[in-house]
Amino acid sequence: MKKKTLILGIETSCDETAVSIIRDNGAKGTEILSNVVSSQFDIHRSFGGIVPELAARSHLEKIDLIAKEAFKKSKVKLTDIDAIAATAGPGLIVCLSVGLNFAKALSLSLKKPLIAVNHLEGHALSPKLNSKINYPYLLFLITGGHTQFVTVSALGEYKRLGTTIDDALGEAFDKTAKLLNIGFPGGPKIEEYAVKGDCNRFLLPKPIFNRGGCNLSFAGLKTAVLRAMQFIKTDQDKCDLAASFQKTILEILLKKTKVAISYYTKIHPKNKNLVVAGGVAANTEIRKKLKELCNKEGFNIYFPDKKLCTDNAAMIALAGLERYNKKKFNKCNFEVRPRWALDVKAEFLKGSGVKL
Ligand code: KG4
Ligand code: ZN
Repeated sequence: MKKKTLILGIETSCDETAVSIIRDNGAKGTEILSNVVSSQFDIHRSFGGIVPELAARSHLEKIDLIAKEAFKKSKVKLTDIDAIAATAGPGLIVCLSVGLNFAKALSLSLKKPLIAVNHLEGHALSPKLNSKINYPYLLFLITGGHTQFVTVSALGEYKRLGTTIDDALGEAFDKTAKLLNIGFPGGPKIEEYAVKGDCNRFLLPKPIFNRGGCNLSFAGLKTAVLRAMQFIKTDQDKCDLAASFQKTILEILLKKTKVAISYYTKIHPKNKNLVVAGGVAANTEIRKKLKELCNKEGFNIYFPDKKLCTDNAAMIALAGLERYNKKKFNKCNFEVRPRWALDVKAEFLKGSGVKL
C-alpha cells in the first residue's frame, strides 16, 4: 500500500507558536494528527497589543517543546515526515524567522523538502480541513491584519476583488475593545459584550458603504467609537457600544459581500462557493448573517471549524500538502517576507488619496 503523505506545519508569524502534523488520507480527506497552539496573550495583555521582540523571544523559547508535543500527540516519528511547511510571511519579521529557520534546520538534517507557506494561503485553504471544497471559490479573508475579497481559481491563483483601504476587520475589533478597556484580543470580548447590549443605542458610520465596489473601510468607525466613549460609564454602556459596533460591522459585511458575490459570479458563474476564513470568521453573528445571505444568493458557504479560524499550524501544513502534491518546493535560502500579498498584481490601496 502506498504510504500516506505526512506533512509537518510550523506557524510563528505573530503571537501563536504552533506546530501540527497532518496526514493525507486521499479521497477520505486530510486528517489532523496533532495541532498544538501556544498563545502569548498573557505576555502581551498589559500592552494591549503585540510587542514583536517579546513575541520572538517567546517563540524561540517554546518552538522545540511545542514541536515535541506535536510529535508525541501524533504518534509519528520525525523521520516519517515527507515535507516541512512553515509560514514565511506575511507577519513580524523577527517572529517569522524563528519558525522558518527551525523548518530549514529540520529540512536540511532530515533531507526532506522545505515548503515556504504564505500565511494567508493557509487561512484561504483552512476550511478544507473540515469540508470538501473544490476550486474555484470566492474567499472572504478576515484576520487581524488583512480584510480582502479574493477569487481563488486554483492553488496559488488569486485575484483580489476588494480590500480594506485602512484598518483590517480584526484590528477594528481589537481597537474598539481596547477603547472600551474590555481585554485582549478584542474580537472574542466584543462578541461576549455585544450579546448583552442594545445594538440600536449608538448610531455609528459605515464608511464607503454605497461606493468603492467591495472595498471596505473601518477607520471612521473606530473614531466614532472614540467619540462615543464620553457616554460610557457603566458595564451596560460598554455592552451597548459593543453591540452597536458589531451590528454596524454586520451591515457593512453583508453589503460588501453581496457586491463581491456579483463580481465573482461574472468570473465564475457556475461555482457558487464562498469561503470565509481568518480569526474574525470565528464570530457567531458574522457566521449566521453570511450564511443567511448565501442562502438567498444560492451560494454554498464554508467556514473553518471555530478553533481553526485563528492562527494554527494545521492550515499551514494543509497549504504545504497541496504544494507538496504539486512538487512546489523551496530552497533553504528562501527569506522571510514580512509583506506578501496573495494577489501580487493587486494595486496598493491604503492611505489618503486612494481613489475608489
Ligand atoms: O487570523 P488571526 O488569528 O490572525 C491574523 O492572521 O491576523 O486573526 C486574529 C484576529 C484578531 O483581531 C481577533 O480579535 C479576531 O481575529 N477574532 C475575532 C474573534 N475571534 C478572533 N473577531 C471577532 N469575533 C471573534 N469571535
Ligand atoms: Zn492569521
